[in-house]
Amino acid sequence: MASRKLLLLPGDGIGPEAMAEVRKIIAYFNADLGLDFELDEGLVGGSAYDAHGKAISEEDMGKALAADAVLFGAVGGPKWDSVAYDVRPEAGLLRLRKDMALFANLRPAICYPALAASSSLKPEVVEGLDILIVRELTGGVYFGEPKEIIDLGNSQKRGIDTQIYDTFEIERIAGVAFELARARGNKVTSMEKRNVMKSGVLWNEVVTATHKARYSDVQLDHMLADAGGMQLVRWPKQFDVIVTDNLFGDMLSDVAAMLTGSLGMLPSASLGAPDAKTGARKALYEPVHGSAPDISGKGIANPIAMIASLAMCLRYSFNLIAEADRLEAAISGVLDDGLRTADIWSQGSTKIGTTEMGDAILGKFKALSA
Ligand code: NAD
Ligand code: IPM
Ligand code: MN
Repeated sequence: MASRKLLLLPGDGIGPEAMAEVRKIIAYFNADLGLDFELDEGLVGGSAYDAHGKAISEEDMGKALAADAVLFGAVGGPKWDSVAYDVRPEAGLLRLRKDMALFANLRPAICYPALAASSSLKPEVVEGLDILIVRELTGGVYFGEPKEIIDLGNSQKRGIDTQIYDTFEIERIAGVAFELARARGNKVTSMEKRNVMKSGVLWNEVVTATHKARYSDVQLDHMLADAGGMQLVRWPKQFDVIVTDNLFGDMLSDVAAMLTGSLGMLPSASLGAPDAKTGARKALYEPVHGSAPDISGKGIANPIAMIASLAMCLRYSFNLIAEADRLEAAISGVLDDGLRTADIWSQGSTKIGTTEMGDAILGKFKALSA
């Protein structure tokens, strides 16, 4: 690969603060490791709305489609609470996912050993936790039509969202989950609500059929999504890979985040299908958290979710496995050293800000590279 084209979309709130730490790490990759990342930047979310009146410009959308990978910060915030629905900050992220056809969202929840005490759950419940939520990302109620508010008269309105899943959408996300499970604990738990939703009935049928046809060597369990949420906080180590739809995946991954200590710890990868000729796949990497308006501008946001998203990018888009492993080891090492941003701070550890955390991880990465 001659050069590696990366588009950075920092976004709003703590997005740019976390992205600044990633930029430092990439600068080191280029200057000292000769990794040859070609960086470009664009606007997304509220910052794009302020500049162009929409949540992502056509030009930046074009750059995203042309890049080898996109690194995304976070979007949204109270400043844009009343802007029109179609141009609200979150619409920029949804457009990226849809137009780049990023149907597979991988959200690993790993409890780093040093953080077992930072979770709101008992340490023995989360110690050693390593689960992967595979969230379907381009279908379901996020995109189904009709999606509207209609006026019924007599001061009554009706809000409508539509949950739709077709066989091929369920089949391909199930395939991703089974493949990933084979490379780790070999177990998939599929979550839906077949007891009330027709799309849940189909989900269950298609996952079962996909398993039977191609993946019968992997253990498959089914769980109703509400019970799955309960099991995630009761005994999360029973899970290996969870596969679920767009909305349940959104909610369950925020729940899973707290098993790791903080929403500021969870990275994600959003992947498209491999190109038939080259095998390359479109990809966007982003933390699971949002723009955190309550802490933005204070220099206290945890950049680990963003930095761990860069590690996923190294692994999945560029096959830089050793570098990805080393970056994750650097994160773990800094936590072992007792350094913590405020969200994961606990008695006896040292509280540091966003920049210091980025510097500490880069310092550790350099030491591991020497
Ligand atoms: P949020 O994830 O922004 O924040 C939830 C809580 O977690 C807050 O208390 C916040 O301070 C804390 N938190 C989140 N990330 C943190 C980090 N890195 N370090 C320390 N603490 C962190 O969710 P919200 O408050 O419900 O949403 C705020 C805005 O973000 C909304 O506009 C929402 O739509 C948007 N949002 C965007 C994304 C995204 O861009 N991918 C994801 C979720 C929410
Ligand atoms: C996430 C976010 C997004 C989602 C929003 C910002 C559109 O919550 O990535 O988890 O709901 O998918
Ligand atoms: Mn979410």
